[in-house]
Amino acid sequence: MGKIVTIASHKGGVGKTTTALNFAYSLSRLGGSVLLVDVDPQGGMTVATNVKKHNGSGLVDYLSGNSQLQDVISQTKARRLSIMGIGSIDHNSIARLEQLAAHGALKKALTIFAKYYDYVIVDAPAGLGCLPTALLNASDAVILVVQCRSLALKTLPPMLALIDWVQKSSNPNLILEGVLINMYNQSNPTESQLFSEIQSAFPEQMFFTTTIPFDPVFEDISLQSVPAAMHNGAQAIAGRYIELSVEYKQREMLRAQAEGADDVADSGLF
Ligand SMILES: Nc1ncnc2c1ncn2[C@@H]1O[C@H](COP(=O)(O)OP(=O)(O)OP(=O)(O)O)[C@@H](O)[C@H]1O
Ligand SMILES: [Mg+2]
Repeated sequence: MGKIVTIASHKGGVGKTTTALNFAYSLSRLGGSVLLVDVDPQGGMTVATNVKKHNGSGLVDYLSGNSQLQDVISQTKARRLSIMGIGSIDHNSIARLEQLAAHGALKKALTIFAKYYDYVIVDAPAGLGCLPTALLNASDAVILVVQCRSLALKTLPPMLALIDWVQKSSNPNLILEGVLINMYNQSNPTESQLFSEIQSAFPEQMFFTTTIPFDPVFEDISLQSVPAAMHNGAQAIAGRYIELSVEYKQREMLRAQAEGADDVADSGLF
C-alpha cells in the first residue's frame, strides 16, 4: 500500500502546486512509482502540467462514476510518474466535489489509487476549508508550504491546530512530515532573521532543513509545463527538490526505526 501525501498551505500562491509537481518528480527519480493528483477545483496542477491536452478527464469524472481509473491517469515521459488532472469541472462539480469529499468518497478513491503506487502526491487547494480538511482525513502525511514572511508564519498556528484536530478526531495516522519554506531569499536580512527566529520558536524537526529559494526561473519553467529538472538552466533548483525528497525519505526511515524500537517482544514470533 502506497503513501498518500498531501501538499497543503493555509495561504494561497505560496508554491503548493510547484512543490507537489517537483517533489513527485524527484520521488519518482529516487525509484518510487508516483501518482500526482490534482484536488484543487481551480486545477492548479492540471494547468501547471497541461495534462488536459492529453486527457480531459480526471478526478471529478472518476468520482462521479463517469470514467474508469485507467481512463483518468496520464503516464508522463518520466518513467515512474503519472498524473491525474482535476477533470471536467464547472461550478456544479465544485460543490459536488466538496460533498463527495465530506462523505468520504475522496478518501476512498485516494486509498484505491494508493494500491497501485508507492506514493500518491496530492495538490490541495489553499486554506482550512472542506477539501483541505477531507484531504488531511484521507492522508498518511502532510507537507505544509510557507513563505518566510512574518504574516505567513503568524497565520501558521490555525493550520497546525487543524492538523492536530484531525489527528485527534478522525485520522490518528496522519503525520505532519514537515514545513517547507519556499521562495526563500537568504540574502534578504529580514527573511534570514525570521528564518532563525522560527527555527527556535517551533519544534526542531518541524521545518525541513531543505529550503527552496526564490528563483525567477520558475516563470520560464511554468511556460514549459514541466518539472524543474526538465528545464534547461534549472538544474540547481531541481537539485533542491531531490534534497527535499531525500530528507523526506530520511524522516520516513527514522520514524519506521523508532516504531520498530517501540515494538515489545512477547511470546509470539518475536
Ligand atoms: N521558489 C520559487 N521561486 C519563484 N517563483 C516560484 C517559486 N515557487 C513557486 N513559484 C511561482 O509562484 C507562483 C505560485 O505558485 P503555485 O501555483 O505553485 O502556488 P500555489 O500555492 O499552488 O497557489 P494556489 O494557492 O493558488 O494553488 C507560480 O507562478 C510559480 O511558478
Ligand atoms: Mg496550487
